[in-house]
Amino acid sequence: EKGGYDSYMMKEIYEQPNALTNTLIGRLHDDTGEVNLDINLDPKSFKRISIIACGTAFYAGMVGEYLIEQLARIPVDIDVASEYRYRDPLVSENTLAIVMSQSGETIDTLEALREAKKFGAKTLGIINAKGSSMTREVDDTLYIHAGPEIGVASTKAYTSMVSAMLMLALWLGRARGTLAEAEGRELLHAARELPRLVEESLTPERIENVKRIAAKYADAKDFLFLGRGVNSPTAYEGALKLKEISYIHAEAYAAGEMKHGPIALIDENMPVVVVATESKLLEKTISNVQEVRARKGKVIAILTDGDTENARHADDVIYVPRTHEMVSPVVNAVAMQLLAIFIADKLGKDVDKPRNLAKAVTVE
Ligand code: M6R
Repeated sequence: EKGGYDSYMMKEIYEQPNALTNTLIGRLHDDTGEVNLDINLDPKSFKRISIIACGTAFYAGMVGEYLIEQLARIPVDIDVASEYRYRDPLVSENTLAIVMSQSGETIDTLEALREAKKFGAKTLGIINAKGSSMTREVDDTLYIHAGPEIGVASTKAYTSMVSAMLMLALWLGRARGTLAEAEGRELLHAARELPRLVEESLTPERIENVKRIAAKYADAKDFLFLGRGVNSPTAYEGALKLKEISYIHAEAYAAGEMKHGPIALIDENMPVVVVATESKLLEKTISNVQEVRARKGKVIAILTDGDTENARHADDVIYVPRTHEMVSPVVNAVAMQLLAIFIADKLGKDVDKPRNLAKAVTVE
């Protein structure tokens, strides 16, 4: 049932091109440049958005926060569900609460949804599991259609959730008039390319390269992950994946935060994984990389294909296919998943049965 793979997690990593196709299919219309999500919410009826989720879904939500604010210019706040439900949040009928969940059963997220509804918010679920508890309680569901995810460490649900968020942000931006048609079309095309680009991220040469890097650093006791802008959540997600399946301590920061404290940790024993793909802030990210190297930290850089210029600042490079910056978190996440799974493999861990974790957390 693992389709020839050693683990469900590996199988699901390789299913991503398909999962993404299913997330996007029928929803992007190249001819008109429109996105059709089949949701009944009036995109002009709310003044703010609250995103609520846990774990990996929360990091997908962070990408969503960035995309929605950029493209639709609506104020967005984001909470981990276990905090939201107890923090007496400011909610009104003008609020759209978006719950994100692979399983649709996570109790913290479900209770947070109930809290938002109690105060009159409109609610939307970005959910994978059909007919799950959350889908029965939200006003509307944007299914991600990633297919069943069995691996405890979420992979394909993450990339599909981020893609669903991108479509939602496009839809909101176009409907609210904040996103010009030409830019909308450009992003729509970029989204459509995602399945192919993820497939390209999984070629044997790329896999061998990540395996080699994983073997080189598998004995490290700590890792730091850095990213900026729309890819700061990619760093958080990378650290979470590594912790969950390899039990190596990992922390993630928005790269600009490093100088405010975490830089004190850096020495020759600290591998630092940096998302440094093409972006408006690439130069700033590279100067963060130089700060790491000046302190003898080992740099594993995620770079855009062909960027040999910045490769000289890194000890090791994971090249990823070129994408539009706004959709790059999907492609970059795959590199993070591969690094984590190959480090865990190297350490002989059973990635489908990470200690202390369950697939759906239905207790508080
Ligand atoms: O089913 P959900 O998306 O609501 O689950 C949320 C988290 O429990 C989940 O993402 C968890 O962090 C995963 N083990 C991450 O790999």
